[in-house]
Amino acid sequence: MFTCQPVLVDWSVSVSLEDLSEHPFTDGKQWEPKPCVLPKRYMDFAEQIRNFEVFEDDVWIVTFPKCGTTWTQEMVWLIDQNLDYQTAKTINLNDRSVFLELFSTFDPMDDTITSARNLPRPRHIKSHLPVALLPKQLWTVKPKIVYVSRNPKDVAASYLHHYRGIAGYRGTKEEFFERLLADEIEYCPQIAHVLEFWRIKNHPNVLFLTYEQMKRDLRKVLPTVCDFFGKKFSNEQLDLLAKHLSFDEMKKNPATNNVELVQTRMKQEGREGESFEFMRKGQIGDYKNELSSSFIDRFDEFIERELRGSDFKFDC
Ligand code: A3P
Repeated sequence: MFTCQPVLVDWSVSVSLEDLSEHPFTDGKQWEPKPCVLPKRYMDFAEQIRNFEVFEDDVWIVTFPKCGTTWTQEMVWLIDQNLDYQTAKTINLNDRSVFLELFSTFDPMDDTITSARNLPRPRHIKSHLPVALLPKQLWTVKPKIVYVSRNPKDVAASYLHHYRGIAGYRGTKEEFFERLLADEIEYCPQIAHVLEFWRIKNHPNVLFLTYEQMKRDLRKVLPTVCDFFGKKFSNEQLDLLAKHLSFDEMKKNPATNNVELVQTRMKQEGREGESFEFMRKGQIGDYKNELSSSFIDRFDEFIERELRGSDFKFDC
């Protein structure tokens, strides 16, 4: 059912689905998804993930990496759980809103596929997988899916630091950006990922957000998210929620700042003492501090080329 080709980077493969003719996402229309770059280990779990049972009351948060997933997970969990700050403070976000395929992409302590399966309902599940590799029942059961995109230049800057801090990447930043422009980094192709969800943005079970829209005025986005979940809160409650979700609050909150996750990962790899903060900068346009003008031009060309024929535009 799946095919897998080695790609230039030695730890990864390029995964595609052989038989797409009956994929419900296609809706009878033509669809040729590009293969997705994933660690080789993923192949041992691809079938299990694709056949993962989906429930109608599930909440799925889907993004390309570094697009504000964690931020969105916390927002969506609190709205769906009627602003239960008590639980949100005591149970780590990663345990309330489980990263489905994490276990298949590296070997952490927990089997995240099983953890996601066994979450109390309504389950909150995070994934970075593209449409073709997500559980196929998503397209027939149609639970709520919140998708978030972010401009690829800020993703590039954020992903570079993530690769260094979490994955232990030791190459140069130029090499990393080259690979990203060639769509050879984990979960690439990047823009195709966004366009698939842009295509289904008007489905009643899909909410399409952008990092920039949230960053420019989160308070204004909250009522839209509440409507999507059929929830109504007072202005004061929404003001408080926006404060709870601000970068500074999430950064000092042990349940959301991923300090524990980063430390565990560094310890596993004997990289204790390295400095990397998951809650890094949280800004729009930080790419200007990371990308040379020539890389900025090349990312702009990449974006223009990949968006050709689409009405989607990145903000920034
Ligand atoms: P930077 O590396 O640019 O700072 P993800 O959760 O998808 O891995 O995304 C991580 C990015 O979202 C990081 O970006 C992180 O700082 C940013 N982020 C996390 N919480 C945020 C918040 N409350 N407000 C703004 N940005 C946030």
